[in-house]
Amino acid sequence: MRMVDLIEKKRDGGELTTEEINFIIEGYTKGEIPDYQVSALAMAIFFKDMTQRERADLTMAMVHSGDTIDLSEIEGIKVDKHSTGGVGDTTTLVLAPLVAALDIPVAKMSGRGLGHTGGTIDKLESIEGFHVEIEREQFVELVNKHKIAVIGQTGNLTPADKKLYALRDVTGTVDSISLISSSIMSKKIAAGSDAIVLDVKTGAGAFMKTVEDAKELAHAMVSIGNNVGRKTMAVISDMSQPLGFAIGNSLEVKEAIDTLKGQGPKDLEELCLALGRQMVYLAKKADSLEEAEEMLKEVIRNGKALEKFKEFIRNQGGNPDVVDHPEKLPQAKYLIEVPAKEDGVVAEIVADEIGTAAMWLGAGRATKESEIDLAVGLMLNKKIGDRVKKGESLVTIHANRENVDDVMNKIYENIRISDHAEAPVLIYGTVT
Ligand code: URA
Ligand code: CA
Repeated sequence: MRMVDLIEKKRDGGELTTEEINFIIEGYTKGEIPDYQVSALAMAIFFKDMTQRERADLTMAMVHSGDTIDLSEIEGIKVDKHSTGGVGDTTTLVLAPLVAALDIPVAKMSGRGLGHTGGTIDKLESIEGFHVEIEREQFVELVNKHKIAVIGQTGNLTPADKKLYALRDVTGTVDSISLISSSIMSKKIAAGSDAIVLDVKTGAGAFMKTVEDAKELAHAMVSIGNNVGRKTMAVISDMSQPLGFAIGNSLEVKEAIDTLKGQGPKDLEELCLALGRQMVYLAKKADSLEEAEEMLKEVIRNGKALEKFKEFIRNQGGNPDVVDHPEKLPQAKYLIEVPAKEDGVVAEIVADEIGTAAMWLGAGRATKESEIDLAVGLMLNKKIGDRVKKGESLVTIHANRENVDDVMNKIYENIRISDHAEAPVLIYGTVT
């Protein structure tokens, strides 16, 4: 087989066979096929697209390019949740204990975050003593016994995707539904769960700016998952404004605790229920999505979800007292209000820009090497559709530096007040 023939085949709109796709990904991973040929192929895929079969084959070829996680020692159906990335997205912190409270195994392998705020691990580490450096055996044991554990990322997962994603980034070939869906799904499948629930975000703060594109991506990922034997469902959700009120690590832990108590922000709660019911259904703990949702609401009402969160913290060395006393979480030195400059209704809160403001405070990493400050971040006091009076606080800045003019200006530039506006739709649909 010659790579040049395969590039020409795709360029002319042909369909690559399973063997051809395996040849390309194996050759590329080993360094036998050069970047320039793979970038030409990526561009051909960008224009000519791939069939569902080709996408599934590409996904599995990337899965097999490196290590895969074996979760077979963990009993039950393992369901993973993945978000395509948002600002102030506290859902994982809520969903992990919520679903585990229904005896569904949550075996989470997580990384550190880059961008607006930290990843799930960073957030959890704002709880004193909590750590994810546990042995594999202990991880398996914890999940079997307590249904929940988080471990830091290990192993060399999907090296082909790492290489290809970096190449696409500099060759104008990121925005292909075929390439994005296989990239994301390869990572989820290598991580070893039996079923996958996807939260595909749309809006200013998201990768997919329009609902149409988000739906197309959701359909592509769901069919890849189902085609390779991993039951997959998706929710398409709004990311035009940040989710919930909190953006920042310990602030989001507090927000997750509130939500597990049934006292969280409405949008965060609604999204957690929408994703959670798919997880419960895919884990075969309920016969319908409606029944699944009722079960989730019940463990919030009766306190089992909150109890599970405490148990989870204790198991991994953390101080569970933070659940009843969130003031024990890291606190920022300065709380600075951002008063509205006029009367009106909040019409826009540009999610990604507000996320960047939180990063400037130190809540997120600008580069992999940056240190993050777990205490800092932003609390939104208003969301889109809320009335506001001149002088009323739009946002509370939690900072560890006195001068926050840069952050304040960025917030003013990205929160628009108008005569009237309505709260945006939160959930645009589900794909099953
Ligand atoms: N995120 C990924 O992991 N891969 C893509 O191709 C795009 C976004
Ligand atoms: Ca939030």
